[in-house]
Amino acid sequence: MTTATARAFPNIALVKYWGKHDEDLILPVAGSLSLTLDAFPTTTTVTLDDSLDADAFTLNGTVQTGNAADRVTRFLARVRELAGVETRAVVTSTNEAPTGAGLASSASGFAALATAAARAYGLDLDRRDLSRLARRGSGSASRSLVEGLAVWHAGDDTHSYAEPVTGPDMRMVIVTVDTAQKAVSSRAAMRRTALTSPFFPAWISSTEESLAAMLEACAAADFTRVGRITESHALRMHAVIQSCDPPIRYLAPTSVAIFDAVAALREQGVEAYATADAGPNVAVIVRPEQAEALRDALEGFGSVRLVGPGAGAEIIDAPVDGPVAGADA
Ligand code: DP6
Repeated sequence: MTTATARAFPNIALVKYWGKHDEDLILPVAGSLSLTLDAFPTTTTVTLDDSLDADAFTLNGTVQTGNAADRVTRFLARVRELAGVETRAVVTSTNEAPTGAGLASSASGFAALATAAARAYGLDLDRRDLSRLARRGSGSASRSLVEGLAVWHAGDDTHSYAEPVTGPDMRMVIVTVDTAQKAVSSRAAMRRTALTSPFFPAWISSTEESLAAMLEACAAADFTRVGRITESHALRMHAVIQSCDPPIRYLAPTSVAIFDAVAALREQGVEAYATADAGPNVAVIVRPEQAEALRDALEGFGSVRLVGPGAGAEIIDAPVDGPVAGADA
């Protein structure tokens, strides 16, 4: 029996990914940039089992069926195709983030699954190819292969992977406003945005511009510029999402109140900038020395967690004497 366990952390995009130009290969309409966190990890074990005629997927102790199980099986089918192996697998995951609430649990989920499955199926992939593989499960997962700041390149299948970027040191305060599963998945909402928003072409070109500016700001370690781009880009994403037909709105009144509170804190000298993914929770970046003051100031809005840059996905356990010993992640 061949087994491997990997751990991956979620990432929060500072320049967002929203829209695909190839839904099958999961190729984005524009590049994006994120911070991989040091909290809310997913730990996934993949065990090949000759006796199975279908994959089995358990998440946080509950056997998964329907869409969640289908996505894992489709992903494993891709791994099996690369490995030339037909054996089915048991996948067991634990996820410390509230699933489906906009904390990018699919990013840590597919980054951990790609890393563990590649090892268990005997694929010898470098980090770049693991990022490309994770992308096929969920676009944002490509970035969780990388520690800290990561840019995910748009492009064709070969060139669309994430790699590290150096930038200013920062911390992030995550304010969890609501842990309920979102009403419209980001995958469905992305598709609806591309099909129905009259602003979608402008979103693509403005994201390209934001990413170019963000890369310059990171290279200059310019926290202020990174922050300004982050906040305006996030609000642009929510604007384009709200412009769908029928419209989708992820931000709750409390989310908007947090954006206002962050703007007020800036006036008071706490330099922080807010962003939010496809859900009501808000992530706020801040300089390390002001992180605790920011966390204390946001405590009334929901449960707050101060996080920093975390590691890329990695194998944490694999048999040394299995047939895949030596296959490097
Ligand atoms: C709002 O990566 O979950 O978090 O590729 O369809 O699985 P799929 O989408 P997913 O979308 C993430 C969207 C976002 C922005 C971001 O992380 O860049």
